[in-house]
Amino acid sequence: MTNTRVTSLVDQLTLQEKAELVSGKNFWFTQAIDRLGLQKIMMTDGPSGLRKQADSADALGLNRSVQAVNFPASALTASSFNRSMLEKLGEHLGNAARANQVSVLLGPGINIKRSPLAGRNFEYFSEDPLVAGELGTAYVQGVQSQGVGVSVKHFAANNRENQRFTASSNMDERTLREIYLAAFERIVKQAQPATLMCSYNAINHSLNSQNKRLLTDILRDEWNFKGLVMSDWGAVADHTAALKAGLDLEMPGKGQASVDEIVTAVEQGQLAEAQLDRSVERVLTMILDYALPADETVDYDLNEQHDFAKQMAEQSMVLLKNSDDILPLKPEEQVGIVGELAAKPRYQGGGSSHVNAFKVTTPLEVAQSDGFESGYAQGYSLDTTTVDTDLANDALELAKSVDKVIFFAGVPEQDESEGYDKTTIELPANQNDLITKIAAVNPNIVVVLQNGSAVTMPWLAQVKGVLETYLAGEAVGEATWDVLDGTINPSGHLAETFPLRIEDTPSYETFNASREDENYREGLFVGYRYYDTKKLPVLFPFGYGLSYTTFSFHDLQVKEVAGHQVAVQLTVTNTGQRAGVATPQIYVANQTSQIEKPVKELRDFAKVALEAGESQTITRTLDQRAFSWFNPQTEAWESDTGTYEILVGTSVTDVVLRQALTLKWGSTTLQPVTENTYFSDVIRRRDLTAALEESGLDKLLATLNGSSENAQLLENIPLRSAVMLGADSQQVAQFIRLANR
Ligand code: BGC
Repeated sequence: MTNTRVTSLVDQLTLQEKAELVSGKNFWFTQAIDRLGLQKIMMTDGPSGLRKQADSADALGLNRSVQAVNFPASALTASSFNRSMLEKLGEHLGNAARANQVSVLLGPGINIKRSPLAGRNFEYFSEDPLVAGELGTAYVQGVQSQGVGVSVKHFAANNRENQRFTASSNMDERTLREIYLAAFERIVKQAQPATLMCSYNAINHSLNSQNKRLLTDILRDEWNFKGLVMSDWGAVADHTAALKAGLDLEMPGKGQASVDEIVTAVEQGQLAEAQLDRSVERVLTMILDYALPADETVDYDLNEQHDFAKQMAEQSMVLLKNSDDILPLKPEEQVGIVGELAAKPRYQGGGSSHVNAFKVTTPLEVAQSDGFESGYAQGYSLDTTTVDTDLANDALELAKSVDKVIFFAGVPEQDESEGYDKTTIELPANQNDLITKIAAVNPNIVVVLQNGSAVTMPWLAQVKGVLETYLAGEAVGEATWDVLDGTINPSGHLAETFPLRIEDTPSYETFNASREDENYREGLFVGYRYYDTKKLPVLFPFGYGLSYTTFSFHDLQVKEVAGHQVAVQLTVTNTGQRAGVATPQIYVANQTSQIEKPVKELRDFAKVALEAGESQTITRTLDQRAFSWFNPQTEAWESDTGTYEILVGTSVTDVVLRQALTLKWGSTTLQPVTENTYFSDVIRRRDLTAALEESGLDKLLATLNGSSENAQLLENIPLRSAVMLGADSQQVAQFIRLANR
């Protein structure tokens, strides 16, 4: 239906009209063609709430937008590890968009958190592509179920903000495929998003907006993407080159100049009209698929959405420390609240995702109205990092007079935003200083954190509790207290590693080291893939999170099933006193290949809700991709024949179950034997026994075999150096001939 209409429209369009359609009409709208009855559609941000600007438009969240519910930032929602919550979030966002006549929502942002200094980490899900891809899929399915399209962004390898329009993300092919493209690939294949937003940066010096390999060869030819590619706002440098590479829609439109450029390019033969038509078809398809009837009435309830924002935050907050069961708070306890962030919470990030929130509930007002608070002290000022002695002394006096202190700490708004990167992962000195001082007068202190990405905690050993709430959205006050007082049992887990120091991070030497080139020298070893492989201690590992109850994972069963899949079964028991939700994480360790790889990688996860004492057996199925790596030589995903280990953990470092299995899925084509083949490899290959015997080399090897020292030497001597073992070169040449016959 849409197809026929699209074809007929293309036939009726003039060249001028086609050129108009592949540029936005203005900041948020596509072009309308009135004479053909083609309406314009609206696209607006963003990942954690609707930013529909009523007045003047901008891409940095500077001007006001209509009121909408501000849901938690993706850094927090990812910590839920909960696909169905993300799908519901998407449904609410789609509903909000639809009720506001917005056809395409500019989100989710799924870039990989390569460095905790990246300014936009709060808007992204994880350092791990499986988490970003699975949660992104659920989000996209939720939004699109409401008849609203998404724009999955920012495609691709857009991992820093400084010089984001021009910097080149330079990396090898495996790193690109296995880390930076994998989440996009998963979402494209599982959810067919309406659109993808191409990022500002270049990859290996090819600007993404005119990168044919990225936008056409990989995205369309390999992944079979059917939707439209739009540019990030202002990402197009050369519109003709962009269209040729596979970009369909330039946003925002640059007006007549852009239209003239395309018309001239076609007239002068620099751009084939057929190529332009392909993009025009995609723009028309998007408009026809997502145009909303002007007079439709949509059931849209801001209070209901606020309630969901609260639930989403509660299901995602991560309890990082709980010594002596300091939490949950008990009704009879006197609780002192310290920190300006209790009164002026940071609940969302800055930039294009910034929402004009419907109803913000601050932690302080909720504590006051619900009767938790036995005093409040501002403690520090968010405008400075310097200690204010008066404020600090008031806080110390309060701390001495109460049973417990809840300290609200975090990163001030001005230090963390789209548009620039952070310079530190430390909290402001005045906050760190006061936490330590309060802990000295009252050890019953819990720190509640509000921040967009990992921070250090120099006072960790002195405090009893830490609750990571990230940027919790407008229901921050209610959600935080529901977790602190035990109404909700926390079940969030970190979707990123918290390092001990910025110097430990894998991209430390290269991140923002050059204005032009961002060299991804750590390769595949991003986030936990690095710390885990190097056995480097961290503050909190990927996947970590506590609960008010305890769980045991047991009875792991792993078996290969038809279709190159592996079924993983385990039982989860709630061994504590109250209901809670466990998050078993399934990692695969590849012990077969000779290729460089992390010691283990997350390949699946689940959420299991259990009453006290209850058990549940879950089965998850891993497909071949979970055992594969990208071979740049063959440009294909390959898996090796040999031994793998399936590891189940509560975090990447706390592995509680493991089982090995052998898979024979690898290619059976044996490598040819050459002068550079090592003796050790020859010995391991049974198929070469006859050739060894015929050439007589078997006798030589028999004299060497037996001692472990010799075995180690053979690991490192190739056939061409056989003379070192006393073999003559003719014998070796004969063996090579026989081996390859
Ligand atoms: C951001 C995008 C956003 C767009 C429109 C750009 O600056 O990078 O994420 O969707 O502006 O506001």
